Amino acid sequence: MKHLLDVDKLSAANIFALINRAQVFKQQSNIPNYSDYTLATLFYEHSTRTRISFELAAKRLGMQVVNFDIQNSSESKGETIFDTLQTLNAMGIQLFAVRHGQNGLPWELAVNCSESSHIINAGDGTHAHPSQALLDLMTIIEKKPDIKNLKIAVIGDLRHSRVVGSLQRICAILNVGELRLIAPEIWQPEKIEYGEYTNSLDNGLKDADVVMCLRVQQERLLVSEGLDLELYRRHYGLTQERLAMLRKDVMIMHPGPINRGIEMDGFVADCAHSVILEQVKNGVFMRMAILEALSLA
Ligand code: CP
Repeated sequence: MKHLLDVDKLSAANIFALINRAQVFKQQSNIPNYSDYTLATLFYEHSTRTRISFELAAKRLGMQVVNFDIQNSSESKGETIFDTLQTLNAMGIQLFAVRHGQNGLPWELAVNCSESSHIINAGDGTHAHPSQALLDLMTIIEKKPDIKNLKIAVIGDLRHSRVVGSLQRICAILNVGELRLIAPEIWQPEKIEYGEYTNSLDNGLKDADVVMCLRVQQERLLVSEGLDLELYRRHYGLTQERLAMLRKDVMIMHPGPINRGIEMDGFVADCAHSVILEQVKNGVFMRMAILEALSLA
């Protein structure tokens, strides 16, 4: 694996190999040392989970880490991200975790970077978030391994969500039983790559094994959508009352960060069904597996 731009170029065998490797790291056994490698995190959008877990993952593998400070960098003097990348690579940095608001930018970086550079898409605009999809599947499989018979329901901002983009692609590769994509019509995706869309929360949640809420991304909402947050919560929020109607063994997920009281009640986020913090925990191990796979390429 030279770069990780999205999950679509991975086979089911590649995905299971990454999940198995992440599970080995989770057991804290035989962690190899990759001290010849350096990771740079280049985050042009805010992040807590993804940036810090890539940093921790690299450090646990013995790598050095550079957190690129965009505000105080020479990009403020007009240097391009392409020149930034080449400059950092010339200093000996090989691994780049990049988050950017522009859809497709990691692909442009991958085409233009030097042979020794490895690009990891840490989230591009509304398009893809591959490490999130991998850690989410890891978390699901740990509790519900029979994915061919699994019903996954995703509620929320399907139109602006890079998480659901990569999730659809990974579910397609793994042939997940059902993927139900639930949203009001204003957020109905223009294109569905896997699964079925419904605007009915009740139909979408019926017998679901896994329910994932997406963040209402207020920074990406269009004025023309005119979303009323209170109305959204009333019709699509995962409330304590709605939780009571779900399967007794349902898994509740959220990629984070959560808007408590909008897409999900705080009670639901913290309940015994919630694996949200397990997703975060698995994120470090999955990113160790990703960094290792790229280092060995
Ligand atoms: N899930 C996710 O990408 O979270 P952060 O924005 O905190 O990295």
